[in-house]
Amino acid sequence: MKYRIVTFGCQMNEADSEVMASLLDHAGWQATSASEAADLVVINTCSVREKPEHKVNSLLGELRIEKETRPELLLVVTGCMAQREGRALVKRSRWVNAVLGTRCFHRIVEVVDRARAGEHGLVIADLADDPAKVRCEPEAQQRAAPLRAFVPIILGCTNFCSYCIVPHVRGAETSRPRDEILREVEALAARGTREVTLLGQNVLAWGRDLPGAGPGQEQVARGDKGSVRTPDERERGMFAELLRAVGDVDQLLRVRFLTCHPRDVTEDLIDAVADLPKVCEHLHLPIQAGTDGLLREMNRGYTVDQYRKIVDRLRARVPGIAITTDIMVGFPGETDEDFARSMEVYEGIRFDAAFMFAYSPRPGTEAAKRGDQVPRATIVKRLNHLIEVQNGITVERNREEVGAVAEVLVEGPAERGEGLMAGKTRTNKQVVFPGERSLAGALVRVRQTEAQLWGFRGEQQ
Ligand code: 5AD
Ligand code: SF4
Repeated sequence: MKYRIVTFGCQMNEADSEVMASLLDHAGWQATSASEAADLVVINTCSVREKPEHKVNSLLGELRIEKETRPELLLVVTGCMAQREGRALVKRSRWVNAVLGTRCFHRIVEVVDRARAGEHGLVIADLADDPAKVRCEPEAQQRAAPLRAFVPIILGCTNFCSYCIVPHVRGAETSRPRDEILREVEALAARGTREVTLLGQNVLAWGRDLPGAGPGQEQVARGDKGSVRTPDERERGMFAELLRAVGDVDQLLRVRFLTCHPRDVTEDLIDAVADLPKVCEHLHLPIQAGTDGLLREMNRGYTVDQYRKIVDRLRARVPGIAITTDIMVGFPGETDEDFARSMEVYEGIRFDAAFMFAYSPRPGTEAAKRGDQVPRATIVKRLNHLIEVQNGITVERNREEVGAVAEVLVEGPAERGEGLMAGKTRTNKQVVFPGERSLAGALVRVRQTEAQLWGFRGEQQ
């Protein structure tokens, strides 16, 4: 029996799909990349914007046709859209066998077995379920360990940014216990992983909800954020301590983490990035908007000035650090002036790179209820301008680094180009250089000789 998993969305979904693949492998299934060859198709979905939902719907349409000729084909929908729609999804798409919510994907084998036994329209979507522990169990560790692995450390989000569906579909912040995370990282490292990325909607919130967190931390976990914290405040962040522990794992060469909420950047996090040799010099720090008014209405919990101070502090303490971000354009009420002022802010900060999005109203969120939605054409125009300016900044910043020698973790042959190998710098920039295939998995020193939007061409030293 063969399965195919199609994954949309973020790295968290990628990591969940890996676990499902391991569990299916363990149950005797074989992976295939073609739906026509599959007896089971799992669609791991994303709801963060409308576009990935449209893609899922068109894939569902294709599979409906496939299923007309092969009625025995099993279809399971997992992830954020599955959680959001639940029963409604099997009602509108009757050819879907089962729906598994964001915290139930670890029950994939059970659900597939039940569907094969004839149960139809199965919906399991309880946010109280806990998939965390399954990730480090032997069944979930069957697959070959990747050179670079993602390790979720905190599920869900309790921030409720006014535009965002994630807290609605992934539930409240739930941290995995420290020893469970370390066990998983150790097991990966022992099997060949050399770089881990600790994952969470906000990794900096890690630990606050765990038993034994201080009273201040518990308050934060309940969503009672109080005043905005700045990195000037000396606060013992639990995440920084976790970074130290992960950094101590033998055989691991690099540690990364994604994503950081600016409000939770503490001085000891900055210290950890500055001082820990394995922790890479890169922070992904979504700014989202560039005026205090928009940030307030988004419920982000920081001002432009506070954000800038964090960036200044990071750049002063960690020479050469790359700072990347997420920016959203066209939040309800965003005026031409807001946009122009935001552009000045982004141009002033000069991000190394940015993910840039058109605001997309999500059902059930506060922002979607507002009457002052920005016209689509205006959003598209602003987004195109932003992309053009930011791409210019990204190339310019890369140009400034030409001539420097970077440490590159070689991943394998480059996608294009004979005899070229590809890897990433500590700052998470792509480098392509002529080299032997045997270098895959090695740390090499590469001189950056040519800057591109996507990274660098280089020569091994
Ligand atoms: N519309 C557009 N972009 C969004 N994001 C989150 N919600 C929305 C939305 N409703 C973006 C944010 C976030 C990233 C993962 O997706 O920038 O940081
Ligand atoms: Fe969404 Fe905000 Fe949570 Fe990020 S921090 S997942 S943008 S609610």
